[in-house]
Amino acid sequence: MNILIIGSGGREYAIGLRLTQDSQKHNLFFAPGNGATSNLGQNVDIKDFNELAKFALNSKIELTIVGPENALSDGVVDIFKANNLNIFGPTKSAARLESSKAYMKEFLAKNGIKTAKFINTNSYEEAAKFIDSLGDIVVVKADGLCAGKGVIIAKSKDEAKKAAKDMLSGKSFGEAGSRVVIEEFLDGFELSFFAICDGSNFVSLPVAQDHKRLLDGDEGPNTGGMGAYAPSPLADENLIKRVQKEIIEPTLKGMQDENAPFCGVLFVGLMVVNGVPYVLEFNVRFGDPECEVLMPLIKGELGEILRGAALGRLNKFDLDDGYAVGVVLASKDYPYKSSPLAKIAVDNIPQNSHIAYAGVSLKDGDLYASGGRVLVAIGKGSSVKEARDRAYDLAKNIKFDGMQYRKDIGYQAL
Ligand code: AMP
Ligand code: GLY
Repeated sequence: MNILIIGSGGREYAIGLRLTQDSQKHNLFFAPGNGATSNLGQNVDIKDFNELAKFALNSKIELTIVGPENALSDGVVDIFKANNLNIFGPTKSAARLESSKAYMKEFLAKNGIKTAKFINTNSYEEAAKFIDSLGDIVVVKADGLCAGKGVIIAKSKDEAKKAAKDMLSGKSFGEAGSRVVIEEFLDGFELSFFAICDGSNFVSLPVAQDHKRLLDGDEGPNTGGMGAYAPSPLADENLIKRVQKEIIEPTLKGMQDENAPFCGVLFVGLMVVNGVPYVLEFNVRFGDPECEVLMPLIKGELGEILRGAALGRLNKFDLDDGYAVGVVLASKDYPYKSSPLAKIAVDNIPQNSHIAYAGVSLKDGDLYASGGRVLVAIGKGSSVKEARDRAYDLAKNIKFDGMQYRKDIGYQAL
């Protein structure tokens, strides 16, 4: 198949790499891709989605897979569909589950899906009144997309009020903070639950766990994610069934009722409180770095699986019974600012491990870390521990100036 993958991160690299392992041979295209995706296929430098759709028509692309949320909330799926192109991902209106926290919270309330108590408002007075009705810890969120940075966990009511005031005045997040969501703090553990959806049916993937903070022991600032593993032993059969029945099924049904059937990856950010799954957030695409550990756990022909989902006829598929752990190797100044280019040296790649490349560029045949999250070192094994050891053995063989990574990925499962 001719397959176009939209995006440039480790997630898109991992999807491409997994597609090269199908028995069916694919021609891969990445828009825009990164310095390493050009080893898996061809990078295409077209930003405008109408132009990209023209390219897809001319290049006889049979399936397009969308990685990042911005492309989805900007309507790339609608544009491709209008051109009769087959694309895996939600439409702009279905993508509101991620792009608008306010829409998502109203949707959950309407469909009786458990989530933290909340209000969504543009009035400071209303926000302050609701904050007074909650416990001491209060969560304050900007309504729009702000790359995971629009969430403040305030340790006191005063701090919460100040955060809400700053957001509403446009001081902290500009336009994205013109409405705020104030939430009750949920005290539990977090899981990332993924389902491949075709609008009415779904297949769920191994339950993953991300590590959002920069430093060991979940210290330091929030990041896009510093490592992940799957499946998590924290999600037992019973919890998985509850998530499917209480969250995924009513969401697919609810989105049909909204005339916005959900096709693509539904990624539920769960908080499990005393065994009960609550929705913290929806994302409408694969997580990064979760995708990098999920790809090696999907058996069968990935291209056909995603093509079926895009066409509204998803078939069941099997999952690997092993474990995967991914450790993010980030550049020196991540997540604060960009870092200088640094040449990447890889000694050797031991068995049952591999690399998913993210923030890299190619110069004279060499790969350079170009900032942000540079790559993910992934290990597979028959236990979390074995997979983790393999991921770290690989990480030790990789070097670039300023490289930083967490040493405790998977700790909650060990
Ligand atoms: P979000 O972007 O909404 O997922 O929030 C980012 C992070 O903030 C989550 O991964 C949680 O760690 C934390 N968080 C968000 N909402 C809550 C909540 N209601 N209770 C506890 N922690 C939360
Ligand atoms: N790793 C979390 C995310 O992709 O949103």
